[in-house]
Amino acid sequence: MRICVLPGDGIGPEVTAVAVDVLKALPASFSFEHGEIGYGAYEKAGAPLPKETVEKVEAADATLMGAVTTPPNIPGYRSPVVELRRRFDLFVNLRPIKSMPHPTSREGVNFLLVRENTEGLYAGRERVEGDTAITERVITRRGSERILRYAFERARDGGFRTVTVVHKANVLRETCGLFRSVALDVAGDYPQVAMKEMLVDACAMNLISDPSSFEVIVTTNLFGDILGDEAAMLVGGLGLACSANIGAEVAVFEPVHGSAPDIAGRGTANPLASILSARLMLEHLGLAAEAKKVENAVARTLKDTEVTPDLGGSLTTREVGDAVIRHMRNEP
Ligand code: NAI
Ligand code: MG
Repeated sequence: MRICVLPGDGIGPEVTAVAVDVLKALPASFSFEHGEIGYGAYEKAGAPLPKETVEKVEAADATLMGAVTTPPNIPGYRSPVVELRRRFDLFVNLRPIKSMPHPTSREGVNFLLVRENTEGLYAGRERVEGDTAITERVITRRGSERILRYAFERARDGGFRTVTVVHKANVLRETCGLFRSVALDVAGDYPQVAMKEMLVDACAMNLISDPSSFEVIVTTNLFGDILGDEAAMLVGGLGLACSANIGAEVAVFEPVHGSAPDIAGRGTANPLASILSARLMLEHLGLAAEAKKVENAVARTLKDTEVTPDLGGSLTTREVGDAVIRHMRNEP
C-alpha cells in the first residue's frame, strides 16, 4: 500500500518519523512517499500546499500528516489543512474517543465523534457591513445526508446501538432544523441503530458528566470542532488525540495537536498521537489486526509509563517510539 507522509512544521517531522517507523515494524508492506506541507513549504517553494504534494496525496491509498504552523499575517496565505479538505472534499472529520491506561484518562469511555467537515459556519461566507460582521451558516441536504449516513454506517458496522445527533434546532430552526430532519430520514434506513437527539449545550455537559453513555456522536462543523477538543480531554488530551479527514477518494490522518513551536527540536514531543493516527489509518485501510497490534503496544507503553514529559515521564520522542515497537514485537 502507498502511504503519503506529510511531516509539516515544528514537531510534525519529529513525531511523524516515529509513527512511520512503527508502521515499518509491522508485518505489512507499505511504500512511503514524502511530501512538503506548511509554512516550511511556503518559505521553500512559495506555497504551503505545493502541487506535487496534492498529486502525492491523490496517488496514495492514505496520507499521514504531522502538523503545520500558521504564520501570522501573510496576505493570501491559505491554511493547507483547510485547502486539503476543500480540494478532496474530505467531508468526514472523525475522532475516536477511547479510554487510555493513563491517569489523565477517564475510564469506560469509547465513542466515535463524527463531524461534518465542509460546511456549516466554516463554509467561508463572511462579510462586513459597516459595523456589523456576518457569517452565514450553510447546511445542505446533501452535506447532511452524507455525514449522517457515514455515522449510521459506522454505528451499524461497529456494533454500536445508538447514534446521538447533536444540534440546536430549537434556536437554529432552519439550519439545524434541516440537519435534524435529514437525520430522522436517514435513521429510518438503519433499524439496527437507535437515533438519539441532543442539544449541543446539553451534549457539552453530558460529555463531562456521563461520557460512557455515548457510542457515536454526529454533528455539524463548528459544534463538532468544539465538542471534539472537549472530548479529547476526557481520554488523555492533546498528546494522545488522533483524527481523520475522510472523503470519497482520499483520507488524511493527523494528530489533533499543532506544530508546538515551544518544544520543537528538543526531542521531547509525544509521538503517541501521531502513532494513534497511524493506527486509525490502518483501520481505515482494512488492516484491523495491524491496527490492534499498534493499539495494544501503545496501551502497554502507557501502562509502563514509558512516556514523554507531557505525560509525566522522562523519555524522548524516539525512546517512546522504540518502546512501542518493542511491545509490538513481544506480543504473541
Ligand atoms: P499546539 O497543539 O501546537 O501546542 C499546544 C501546547 O501543547 C504547547 O504547549 C505544546 O508544547 C503542547 N503539545 C502539543 N503537542 C504536543 C506533543 N505531541 N507532545 C508534547 N506536547 C505537545 O497548539 P498551539 O501552540 O496553539 O499552536 C502552535 C502552532 O500549530 C500554530 O501555528 C497553530 O496554528 C498550529 N496548529 C496546527 C494544527 C494542525 O496542523 N492541524 C492544529 C493546531 C494548531
Ligand atoms: Mg479544533
